[in-house]
This record gives sequence, C-alpha cells and structure tokens, in this order.
Amino acid sequence: PSSIDLAVIAGDGIGPEVVAEGLKVLGVALEPSGAKVSTTEYDLGAKRWHATGETLPDSVLEEVRGADAILLGAVGDPGVPSGVLERGLLLKLRFELDHYVNLRPGKLFPGVRGPLADPGDVDFVVVREGTEGPYTGNGGALRVGTPHEVATEVSVNTAFGVERVVRDAFARAQARPRKKLTLVHKHNVLTFAGHLWRRTVERVGAEFPEVAVDYNHVDAATIYLVQDPSRYDVIVTDNLFGDIVTDLAAAVCGGIGLAASGNINPDRTAPSMFEPVHGSAPDIAGQGIADPTATVLSVGMLLAHLGHTDAAARVEAAVAADLAERGTAKRSTSEVGDALAARLA
Ligand code: NAD
Ligand code: IPM
Ligand code: MN
Repeated sequence: PSSIDLAVIAGDGIGPEVVAEGLKVLGVALEPSGAKVSTTEYDLGAKRWHATGETLPDSVLEEVRGADAILLGAVGDPGVPSGVLERGLLLKLRFELDHYVNLRPGKLFPGVRGPLADPGDVDFVVVREGTEGPYTGNGGALRVGTPHEVATEVSVNTAFGVERVVRDAFARAQARPRKKLTLVHKHNVLTFAGHLWRRTVERVGAEFPEVAVDYNHVDAATIYLVQDPSRYDVIVTDNLFGDIVTDLAAAVCGGIGLAASGNINPDRTAPSMFEPVHGSAPDIAGQGIADPTATVLSVGMLLAHLGHTDAAARVEAAVAADLAERGTAKRSTSEVGDALAARLA
C-alpha cells in the first residue's frame, strides 16, 4: 500500500465547502487498497491576502512542488481586486508547475438532464492549453483612466508550447474509441497564432494517421456544442477559448456543479493539480448548497493520474450511480458528499 502526499488549497468562497466533500470521498475511495493520504492544507486565498498581502509565497510554492498532487477548491473573492488571486495564486500555480494540459471532460452522465432536449451521446474531453495564450500577462496599459487609454493583452503562442499540448491531445484521441480530434481556434482572424496551431496540428497529425482531424472556428464551436455536442471526441484549443468553451460544455452536460478538471504536467516534473471548473461562487458561498460533485470527479481524475485506477473508476461509478437517481431533489453540499461516500463504502 502506497501513500499519497496531497497538498490541499481549499481557497475562497465555496472552495472549502466542496473540498471537504472531495477529501471525504478520497479517504473512502482508497480504503480497499490500503493506501494512505497525508494532506497538508495551505491557507492561501483572500484571507491570507488580507492578513499579509501574500498570494503564493515562494516558500509555499516550493513546499507544494514536493507534493504528489494538489487538490484545489476555488480562488477569487469580491473583497479582493479582481485578478490578484486569480493571477497571483491560481495562474501562478499552473504556470510554475507547468500544467500545460488543462484537461476538462465534457460528459453527459446517464440520467442527467441538461438543457438540451435531444443531446445524443455526449462524451468528449477538452484539452485546453494551460500555460500560454492571453493568460501570460504579456500586455500593459498606457494613459490609464484617460480618454486615450490603450490596453493590450498579447496572446503568447510558442511553437514549443503549441506542439506539446497538440501532441498530448493526439495521444489522447488515439487512445479513445472514436479517435477524433477537433482543433478549435479562430484562424480566420487570429492569423498569426491560428496558423501556428493549424500547421502544428497538421504536422503532428501525420504521426497519428488513425486520428481523424477536424477544425472549428471557436464561434461556430459554440453553436455545435449546443446543437450537436456528440460530434466531439477530443477538442484541443488555446487557453482562453478553452476556458470559455468548457463553461459552455459544463452547462450542456448538466451544470457547472458537475464539471471536473485536471491541470496536468504530463512530464511529471511537478505535481498536477485537480479542481472543479467552477469558481468560488460568492453568490452561494457559506450556504452549504454548492454541489461538490465536480470536486469529487476531480478527485477521481487525481486518483487516475496517480495510478490508483481502481479507486478512480469506483469514484466515477459512485458519481454516475448517484446522478442516475438524483432527480431534482435539493440536497446540501455535505448530503451529496455523504451519499457519494456511502456508495463507495
Ligand atoms: P463561478 O463559477 O464561481 O460561478 C458561476 C455561477 O455558477 C454562479 O451562479 C454560481 O453560484 C454557480 N456555481 C458555481 N459552482 C457551483 C457549484 N459547485 N454548485 C452550484 N452552483 C455553482 O464563476 P464567477 O461567478 O464568474 O466567478 C466567481 C469568482 O470565482 C471570481 O473571483 C472568479 O475569478 C473566480 N473563479 C475561480 C476559478 C477557479 O478557482 N478555478 C474558476 C472560475 C472563477
Ligand atoms: C477557470 C477559471 C480561471 C481561468 C481564472 C479564475 C483564472 O476561470 O479555471 O476556468 O480562466 O482559467
Ligand atoms: Mn473558467
């Protein structure tokens, strides 16, 4: 029986509420294998920032670097200037730990009623680039607050960065039954980055002759995600498009409370980080009504990443069984967590 050294960053808003349930399920899921989890909780987020002005001190980052994996709730708080925690904590983790594959499944579980009348068999995964694009902070502002203000936010796309995420997406497509990869971009307007992505998909694709390649402009992809989501298998896309289409995918697949993600470092040079796709949801924080399912499914992805394949499969099965019977009954955050843990036990 191995042991997992887990760094836990519960964060802000509903983060601590959903993480508590994720940890509950994690403990139960590992019982049969005898594997132990040792958790280290880091009090990062709005409270720490108000108290000390720190978002992610280097000493904490170095400590976290030594963990086997990270479980994160959510960051962001209405009382903190927008971007301070998002950039200084969440994106700093993704960038410093080289989470270049942001894996976001879009799966409509049996029995889940999404907003679509006839969605078909929806089971795709978005491979969102995680370390580049418009997220790098490459930009600036001139003459702020004047009528002549100029703001730039430059999208950074490197051959190295695009190739490694595209290669990862092809490998995932190759391993799936349908073997289909769709590049989502906007090369009709973003001609510099778009053409780099397009050429890279073409070149890397030659190494994966069994994978069928498709392309959608991102605006059209939002149509197809709603009108015909079952067309997708693996979507590869840049950081910002991936952010937007995965919230849409979550809505299509039954709601943001069900959407899981992994920020993966495929080279395993640093721990990967697992978190729900949603944010800190200040509108419902503190009420004990947030759905912890997305966090629990993220725990499943964490287990799979660490090679605890059986435990991962049982977590997903427990969620699937709960979703199949869930209906519209209102349950609290901990009631959902308890129900999932009970199914696993
Ligand atoms: P959000 O995802 O926090 O909330 C959007 C909507 O979804 C809200 O109506 C919220 O109540 C609902 N929702 C979210 N999670 C839910 C859950 N588990 N169960 C039920 N309902 C849920 O997005 P937002 O409102 O745009 O952002 C709020 C804050 O979170 C901002 O500070 C933002 O920067 C931050 N944020 C953080 C992350 C992250 O940590 N990964 C992701 C997105 C947003
Ligand atoms: C997400 C969030 C983050 C993102 C923000 C909070 C930096 O929206 O995880 O989807 O844009 O990646
Ligand atoms: Mn987002």
